[in-house]
Amino acid sequence: MHHFLEANPRLETPFFLIDLDLIEQQYRLLREALPFAACYFAMKSNSSTAVIQRLNQLGSRFEAASIYEIRRCLALGVPPRDIHFGNTIKKDSHILEAYRLGVHSYAFDSSQELEKIAQLAPGSNVSCRLATDGKGAVWGLCRKFGRDPDDVVELMKYAHSLGLRAYGISFHTGSQQRSAGAWRRTIEICADIIQRLNQQQVYPRLINLGGGFPSYQYAGDEMQPQGDIFEYGKVIKTAVDELLPQGIDCVMEPGRFITAAAGLVKATVILVLDKATDGVPTRWVYLDAGRFNGLYESVDVEYPIITNRTDGTAIRTVLAGPTCDSDDVMYDRDRAVFLPDTLTQGDSLIFTNAGAYSKSYMTVDFNGFPPMQEYVV
Ligand SMILES: Cc1ncc(COP(=O)(O)O)c(C=O)c1O
Repeated sequence: MHHFLEANPRLETPFFLIDLDLIEQQYRLLREALPFAACYFAMKSNSSTAVIQRLNQLGSRFEAASIYEIRRCLALGVPPRDIHFGNTIKKDSHILEAYRLGVHSYAFDSSQELEKIAQLAPGSNVSCRLATDGKGAVWGLCRKFGRDPDDVVELMKYAHSLGLRAYGISFHTGSQQRSAGAWRRTIEICADIIQRLNQQQVYPRLINLGGGFPSYQYAGDEMQPQGDIFEYGKVIKTAVDELLPQGIDCVMEPGRFITAAAGLVKATVILVLDKATDGVPTRWVYLDAGRFNGLYESVDVEYPIITNRTDGTAIRTVLAGPTCDSDDVMYDRDRAVFLPDTLTQGDSLIFTNAGAYSKSYMTVDFNGFPPMQEYVV
């Protein structure tokens, strides 16, 4: 990425740059840390064509959230057997199309969804999503998805009775999950569910460990995960060996861990303004990139920022995107960033570790701004 930036200093901003070798490095690292879990890459974190192609070459499978992601995978040569339709809420027509295209693995967390799958994708493998508490994660992903253990038992039995393969139990401990213990806690609950199901002649074969594996490179102490990915691998493997019956396979659905470090957003300063804000003197730096074109997650994480300025004193700076929306502001009240007081119009800011949920979260026409240009190295 460094070479690309040096060779193209005047390229129109904002743009998104992704490094495929870094994608590969992160993928290999995760596979090494959790060799017992097949990888279904969560495309939602970065569904760039080049990323899918590289991961497909490396043998990854894919977790798709929609028929659109499924179509994209298939168009790029991913075999349908390597795609899991991981969204628990799906339109009838999308289930039918996925099934006809050869996708036979579906997530669910309600009897209504099961009935749809049984009718439109008969005989498929289904995985029931178990609710988690989200503790230890930056984004809990609780509430909207997943069911309590008693409900999971009933739903898996129902799946079986509908002629589906009551294949797996899936969960997500929350994105940017800083505690490996979250997996152990949840695997313990899965073990109990499996035991109860076995007593009723239903035999799940799979635990889907979800995503949530943290990126280490966001700024700010509170973002530093405990331990590295090998520690996570060890804790999870120990839990699997100690708690689950033999013959249960594991898969995972990582997104952020693979993509975050592999991408950056380059923006340009449009205007610098010192003005009283709520009576407090405040430095505002307005950029050509903001929350609606690539930096949505800045609400919750702090991207390490590089500027071209090496002089000046670092002062607290509020950043704002280019749209007329007053929510298009980053690092205002609750999270402080410090940038050189010499920063001026035309300077550049590079948001690093921005490869996850940045390009995929962009609006396409908000205030008329087009989506950010993407470059791949
Ligand atoms: C079902 C599912 N699987 C996997 C992921 C990927 O999670 P992460 O990017 O935290 O690894 C998500 C993220 O929202 C998800 O909803």
